[in-house]
Amino acid sequence: MIYDPRRMTRDRYDELPYADYCFPRTHPEHLFAVSALCGRPAPPFARCRVLELGCARGANLLPMALDLPGSEFVGVDLSEVQVAEARDRASALGLTNVTFRAESIAALSDDAPFDYVICHGVYSWVPPAVRDAILAVCRGRMRPDGVAYVSFNALPGWNALRTIRDFLREHAPPGPALERVRRARRALAVLDGSLQADPSPWSAWLRGELRELGGADDAYLFHEHLAAVNDAVYLRDFAAHAAAHGLAWLADADLRVAAPALRPGAGDPIALAQSVDFTHNRRFRASLLVHGETAAGPADPAALARLHLATRARVPDVGAAALTDDRPVTFPSDERPLVLRDPWMKCALHALAAEDRRPVSYAAMAAAAAARLGLDRRAALGAAAAHAPAVLDLLFDGAISLHAGAARYAEAAGLRPLASPIARAQAMGSDEVTTLRHTRIVLPGEARAVLRLSDGTRDRAALAAGLPRDARSEAERAGDCEQALDWLASNALLVG
Ligand SMILES: C[S@@+](CC[C@H](N)C(=O)[O-])C[C@H]1O[C@@H](n2cnc3c(N)ncnc32)[C@H](O)[C@@H]1O
Repeated sequence: MIYDPRRMTRDRYDELPYADYCFPRTHPEHLFAVSALCGRPAPPFARCRVLELGCARGANLLPMALDLPGSEFVGVDLSEVQVAEARDRASALGLTNVTFRAESIAALSDDAPFDYVICHGVYSWVPPAVRDAILAVCRGRMRPDGVAYVSFNALPGWNALRTIRDFLREHAPPGPALERVRRARRALAVLDGSLQADPSPWSAWLRGELRELGGADDAYLFHEHLAAVNDAVYLRDFAAHAAAHGLAWLADADLRVAAPALRPGAGDPIALAQSVDFTHNRRFRASLLVHGETAAGPADPAALARLHLATRARVPDVGAAALTDDRPVTFPSDERPLVLRDPWMKCALHALAAEDRRPVSYAAMAAAAAARLGLDRRAALGAAAAHAPAVLDLLFDGAISLHAGAARYAEAAGLRPLASPIARAQAMGSDEVTTLRHTRIVLPGEARAVLRLSDGTRDRAALAAGLPRDARSEAERAGDCEQALDWLASNALLVG
């Protein structure tokens, strides 16, 4: 039989479809916001055309299509099985602004130009000709002011991971996908056992990696570690490849990773980012690319004035005076608590934290801080501008997140609560769903049952009545239902 890499790829993903995830940093609102932060206007994300290359079963594109009804989405994937599933899901959701096509990135059918191109988890996993095609599409099918997102496995981090991959491929020779996964898992267990008595740092590192891999799903193990192609690259080589296609590297999609190269006054951004990758042994990168002619400089603190911000930090349990004097105040967070001393920064973060992760415009946040500090209009404008660099630092630290507009989900449950239709469909078969923030979340206790019932036809009493009958009183069930609705609203799962 003639070796046909395209057919082999299609068959592999038809046999074992890829995991079903969404990726918040691929969302056009995020791409718009990072571009704007660099002082570079990008197409309006609420009315744009988005192309996803290697879209698998549509888990990333479908929630975007639901979120942005004024935009149009096209997903392309070689695997007919995955594309068929994506189409079925789109029609079950009644979405008319998303199309899925079973075709190769290297032979796209004709299309009007796109504003945003997304290619997550494909570049490192395809042969060189398809890698060329990915970048050719970003240049040839994307409007001049567009932004592309391309992620890849990075060096030097993958140098050591390659040892695991080579080991697994040796112990899981070609054969049916699930049989190879079974053999790979057995090899992982044997390797782990043989390392137990070895006290070396190498053994400790390797065992940590093996533990992680042991918890990974079959599709990840198969397509990441057993795939015929998985070529990690250095960021500088990726950027050079992009430049050869007329594309410029804008930033990493993760602002915490992007920070060193994006800080105002940073030197050569690619050389800097590459040095950081060596220091941190980075193993994955998600790069934003733009047409070379529209390349932008580092982040501009003044650009924050046109953007929105949100925080996961919570309102601190302190009196109002602690916000306006010079005492340090700790804002609790599930991640890292944030300690601030500057009165304007404390008041600004308090305003954000009070919104429970809902984006607030920089202007509204600054106005709230000024009001609490009793600043007049002139002083308020001055303080808003003067604190922008410190706010940018919080963004680079990951304490706050960047947005380009207000939340597009309900703040509280309505009289007849209506949940995100995608999350409701997902909750029929899983306790992990996609939120309207384009993130994934595991539904706790009663939330899953309440989510499934929240189709806009039931009031509170009907929702509580639909919950499983158990030892709880009616009043207790109603209380639990209300709590679950609050949780769903807080976690961006309700549209009404
Ligand atoms: C590792 S999966 C990533 C899927 C998804 N983007 C994600 O990250 O969850 C790679 C996907 O690229 C698709 N693919 C590989 N080569 C392709 C090509 N030449 N044209 C279109 N799709 C391709 C595969 O079918 C598969 O669905």
